[in-house]
Amino acid sequence: MKYKILELLKKNNSFVSGEEIGRVFNISRSAVWKNISKLKQMGYDIVSTTNKGYLLNNTVNVLNEYEIKNNLTTKYMGKNFLFFKEIDSTNEEAKRQAQNFAEEGLLIIAESQTKGKGRLGNSWLCSENLNLSFSIVLKPNFLPSDITSLTLIVGLATCTAFRTLGIPAFLKWPNDIIINGKKAVGILVEISCEVERINYAVVGIGINVNEKAFFGELEQKATSLFIETGAEFRRIDVLNKVLCEFEKFYIDFTADKGFVYFKDEYEKICLNIGKKVKAVSKQKIIFGTAVGISDKGELIIKNDDGKVSVVSGEVSVRLQDGKYI
Ligand code: BTN
Repeated sequence: MKYKILELLKKNNSFVSGEEIGRVFNISRSAVWKNISKLKQMGYDIVSTTNKGYLLNNTVNVLNEYEIKNNLTTKYMGKNFLFFKEIDSTNEEAKRQAQNFAEEGLLIIAESQTKGKGRLGNSWLCSENLNLSFSIVLKPNFLPSDITSLTLIVGLATCTAFRTLGIPAFLKWPNDIIINGKKAVGILVEISCEVERINYAVVGIGINVNEKAFFGELEQKATSLFIETGAEFRRIDVLNKVLCEFEKFYIDFTADKGFVYFKDEYEKICLNIGKKVKAVSKQKIIFGTAVGISDKGELIIKNDDGKVSVVSGEVSVRLQDGKYI
């Protein structure tokens, strides 16, 4: 019943009286009230006034099982999903599910993570109710060495999704999404593999959607879709857009097209190209100018020693003048 009432309130942009709702669904005023309370508990902002009735307010930040089920328009990515109010890390849960024979496309999504993981052993912090933290289980039929390209494909798909929403997003190799010089999305791809075979891959994506401000050292580096556009985005729409784009890219990528098929598109929106960079890994630091992306998705750096290709997962790339991008 609560979902029927929700749909009615969604259709009406003005107040609907309890009497009217009761009449439409043939239920008592107190049953209306009980269902409205349940919707409020689910996070819907419903204003109730004695004379006018109920009004569904801003729904931009509502994220729950019902919204996910009813708004995803993908073919299969995320059609099976698990939604958590709180979890250690959606990547960790996705791995647990994958070990438990989860199928390709399973979406793990959480309102908050107690141990969100970032690249290179960093942690990923993200405040609840405003942002998106999710992971997708994949069972790709390619070699473990191709996973480097997959990490770039995830970034390219996410960036493309943002651009279709009118957001001027760019890529910082391998897969950070940058808007006006600051990072709005973090992507962490993890795999379990044998020598010639991937058992499963987990693609974890954290998107700063409606975060209003960042403080401390993050202020210079991090941003959100809201901060850059001044508009609040419906989280469910952003999730759907990103999953739809990723699904398209992934289908092409795994249909033997490989990264080379996407290379030009990637290079066009990659901010590192043409810049003086330093690539820092545990073993060494490479200085040079980023001149392109290889057919496998490595960053090609040119310096006095010639051209060197660096592989994602091992290095962090910064500009030589110390700036982030
Ligand atoms: C980065 O360091 O840029 C990568 C951050 C990845 C964060 C996401 S949030 C959803 C998923 N679960 C995690 O624990 N991490 C990824």
